[in-house]
Amino acid sequence: MKIIHISAECYPIAKVGGLADVVGALPKYQNDIGAESSVIMPFYNNKFTQSHKFSTIFEATLKLGNQDFKYSILKIEKASVLEFNIYFVHINGLLYTENVYSDDDTDRFLAFQIGALDWILSLETKPNYIHCHDHHTGLIPFMAQESFKYETLNKIPVITTIHNAQYQGWMSYDHLFKIPRFNIERVGLLMWNDMINPLATAIKCAWRVTTVSPSYMEELKRNANGLESLLAHETLKCIGILNGIDSDVWNPETDDFIIKNYKKTSVASGKKANKKWLCAQYNLDESKPLFAFIGRLVGEKGAEILPSALNEALRANDISVIVLGSGAKDTEGQLSKLTSRYSGYYNAFIGYDEKLSHIIYAGADFLLMPSRVEPCGLNQMYALRYGTVPVVRRIGGLKDTVIDIGDDGFGICHNEVSVQDIVFSISRGKEFYKQQKEFKANQKRIMSIDHSWKVSAKAYIDLYQSINYRTK
Ligand code: ADP
Ligand code: GLC
Repeated sequence: MKIIHISAECYPIAKVGGLADVVGALPKYQNDIGAESSVIMPFYNNKFTQSHKFSTIFEATLKLGNQDFKYSILKIEKASVLEFNIYFVHINGLLYTENVYSDDDTDRFLAFQIGALDWILSLETKPNYIHCHDHHTGLIPFMAQESFKYETLNKIPVITTIHNAQYQGWMSYDHLFKIPRFNIERVGLLMWNDMINPLATAIKCAWRVTTVSPSYMEELKRNANGLESLLAHETLKCIGILNGIDSDVWNPETDDFIIKNYKKTSVASGKKANKKWLCAQYNLDESKPLFAFIGRLVGEKGAEILPSALNEALRANDISVIVLGSGAKDTEGQLSKLTSRYSGYYNAFIGYDEKLSHIIYAGADFLLMPSRVEPCGLNQMYALRYGTVPVVRRIGGLKDTVIDIGDDGFGICHNEVSVQDIVFSISRGKEFYKQQKEFKANQKRIMSIDHSWKVSAKAYIDLYQSINYRTK
């Protein structure tokens, strides 16, 4: 079974968030169970691509409306970098930027989708399934089915996974002529609320639509940034499949990023060494329970409420807190400001740092996730794997992966994104930390939870196999 994943991000090549982690892991686990899964993504001019060699496997001219671009499909020369094949759409004059996302995303991702499909069209052995991720690839299900030039692809099932329905890739009618020609009577498939809406198009045209957790699928049918009625209408082809984690990359026993490796039997000393390093480096009190936040500083993550909640929670000087993130400038500013007020107990690293994130998962006692929206969330699963207690709002994938200690579970859950709920959860955490015997037993318990991709990689394969032309 040949599967091609099409995505804007893939770890370790280009990562902004969890989409990269998923696309960098799922194909590997699908291959482990006998599939032949690969990835195609845009070629970015970043650290990864600058330090690897590529060979050209396909060259052609790509048409975007009345503009012609020379483009090529590249492959990494050393295949061993990843455990699956990965291909890059390299377009002269487009996409050649360091950042994954920028101001000209509409044209960049339109061209990327056309480049990917033109190449698939040229393949002698076509994939059995095309698996698209998020709105950047949302027009592929339409083009593969409706554009005249891709007619020979229209029997290949296309699956779309929604990682985040907040972003939909809206574009105005002006872009219509850039989509390879199709029967204009079908134009309705592209439209939603007077705009071309690639995510809505994917929901209409994909053979199956998945979300990255079952709860998120149910939540979207009630509130999906304008797409709720569409999702409710398409419910028969929709399913939520919980993300997994790459348990080779996220493994405290072998993780090269962390200060001291550890396993379940050595969790106490291992976490202590990582916490000691963090506290020394970031001027925190090692004797206090260490709460951490890692993530994009945006409304979805509840980040704008963090400064007030942390300000409140830190008043008694009986916890330490470390924040790693970047995003909204005012939130960044407010979080930085707290450092001088709570010197010795609080610090914020504003920016993106993969290594530091691993050390925090290893060294922190608790991980805060007061998310307003969380389609799945990987951080809480990384935290569990490193013996760190997740403190989460009950929403989306957090609801599906964390059970409260009050319900015989292992984490701390609250219902609202409010200062009151976050502060109350932190104080429950402090109490739990005082019961060191139970706390340590819980660390071992959470490290045993298996969130690796094994189960969900199989769930996707089962989903592909359940598709047949009659049940499209
Ligand atoms: P999302 O994709 O919505 O941002 P996820 O929980 O799915 O949320 O995944 C976030 C990923 O990005 C995790 O791997 C997390 O460790 C990482 N991450 C987020 N912010 C940072 C940061 N500032 N530095 C390092 N890693 C980060
Ligand atoms: C999105 C979601 C996040 C999810 C990730 C990977 O970025 O915001 O919750 O874990 O995609 O699917």
